[in-house]
Amino acid sequence: MNKRPASAVDVSKMQTPAFVIEETLLRHNLGILKYIREKTGAKVLHALKAYATWELLPMEREYIDGTEASSLNEARLGYEEFGAEVHMFAPAYKEEEFEDVMKYCSTIIFNSFAQWKKFKPQVEAYKAKAGKEIECGLRINPEYSGPSEHGNLWSPTAPGSRLGVRISEFNAGLAADPNALAGISGLHFHIFFEKDLADLRAALPVIEEKFGEYFKHMEWVNFGGGLKLTDDSADVEGYIETINAFQKKHDVHVHLEPGAAIAWWAGSLVATVLDIIERDDVPHKIAVLDISFENHLTDFFVSPDIDLKVRGADIERDDSKLAGKNAYKLGGMTCIAGDQMPYAHIFPSQLKIGDKIVIDDAIQYTLIKCTMFNGVQHPAIQLWKDGAPKTLREFTYEDYRARMG
Ligand SMILES: Cc1ncc(COP(=O)(O)O)c(C=O)c1O
Repeated sequence: MNKRPASAVDVSKMQTPAFVIEETLLRHNLGILKYIREKTGAKVLHALKAYATWELLPMEREYIDGTEASSLNEARLGYEEFGAEVHMFAPAYKEEEFEDVMKYCSTIIFNSFAQWKKFKPQVEAYKAKAGKEIECGLRINPEYSGPSEHGNLWSPTAPGSRLGVRISEFNAGLAADPNALAGISGLHFHIFFEKDLADLRAALPVIEEKFGEYFKHMEWVNFGGGLKLTDDSADVEGYIETINAFQKKHDVHVHLEPGAAIAWWAGSLVATVLDIIERDDVPHKIAVLDISFENHLTDFFVSPDIDLKVRGADIERDDSKLAGKNAYKLGGMTCIAGDQMPYAHIFPSQLKIGDKIVIDDAIQYTLIKCTMFNGVQHPAIQLWKDGAPKTLREFTYEDYRARMG
C-alpha cells in the first residue's frame, strides 16, 4: 500500500487551540480499509467511540459498510449521519432504550446469555412488526491478552473483566439450554489495543481452540477493533490472507470494527505556548500551553507510557538525561498540579511564547473524551482541506454553561 502522505497543515493559518482533521489523511486510512474490504468481503464498521466527527461520516460511505456503536446516542448518530449498517455492543441494554436500539441498529450484540434471553422476545416481535431484519450476536471473552495492556486499563480479557462470555460460561449456558444460540448469527470478540498482524495471528488459534466448534453455526465472527490496520507498517496483504483463511476455514464472514485506525495519524491538536516557567529544582523548563492534558488528552494523562507525539520534538523519559538540552515538560491550563506531561520533550531550539506546538496523531480518543473542566476553552474542530482550515465547530461560553445545568 502507499505510505501515508505528509501532513499538509500550515500552522501559521491556524487559530489555537484546535483539533485539525486532514481530509487527505483520513481518506488515506479509509482507502486501506476499503482495499481490505474488497479483497476479503469482510464488513468494516467505524467504531464511533474513537472519533465521531459526524460531518465527515457521509464521506466514509464511499469506503466502508457502516458504524459500530456502544450506546444509544452513538447508534443514533451512526444511523442519522452515516446511514447504512449500525452494529451495537453494550455491556447491558436498558429496557426503556431498547425500542430505539432496535430502530437504529441492524445488528445487536449481547454481553451475556441472560441479556440475550431477556431481549430476544422483543427483537423477534420488533422484526415481525417493523418488517426489519436485525441480526443478533454474542460477545465472547477468549481470556487471551497480549503483552503490554497499559495496566489492564484497556484489556477486555483481564481477570475479572465484565466483558464477553467465557468458554466455561458458554458451555454452561448451552448445557442449561441447548437452544440458547437459536437466533444468534454471530460471535464477537474485542481483545486488542494497538496491535498488529503478528498479534492477531497469535490470538486466533487460542480463540479457535476455545470457540472454534461454534463458529460453524455462525454467519459471522467480529474481530473487534484494536488493530493498527492503517499504520504505515501494517502488513495489509498479510491481514487479507489471514482474514480470508479464517473465513474459508470456518465458513463465516469476518467483521472488523476499527476505531483508532480510522483517524490514525489523520490530524493533530495545535496549541500555543503561553508562558515558559523555569524552576531551579528540575532539569527542564515548563511550557504552559493553551490546552489541557487533563481535559483534551485524557489517555496520555491516564497512561503515561503512551507517547505524546509532538512534531519536531523527541521524547525523553529519563530526567537525568535532560541537562544541556532544550527540554520542556508541556503543561496545561487547569488547576490540577499534574496537568502536565510527566516526561520531557526535547526541541531542536528554545521555545518562545507564541510558538505553535503541533501534537500529531491527536484525533483518535481525544476529541471524543474532552471535558470543559475549569471552564477551559474546548479546542475548535477544524477540517484541513484544499490548503486551508475550515471550522466545523467552535465552542463558546454557552457550551460550557449548557453542560452545567
Ligand atoms: C467492542 C469494541 N469494538 C471496537 C473498538 C475499537 O477499538 P480501536 O479504536 O482500538 O480500533 C473498541 C474499543 O474499545 C471496542 O471496545
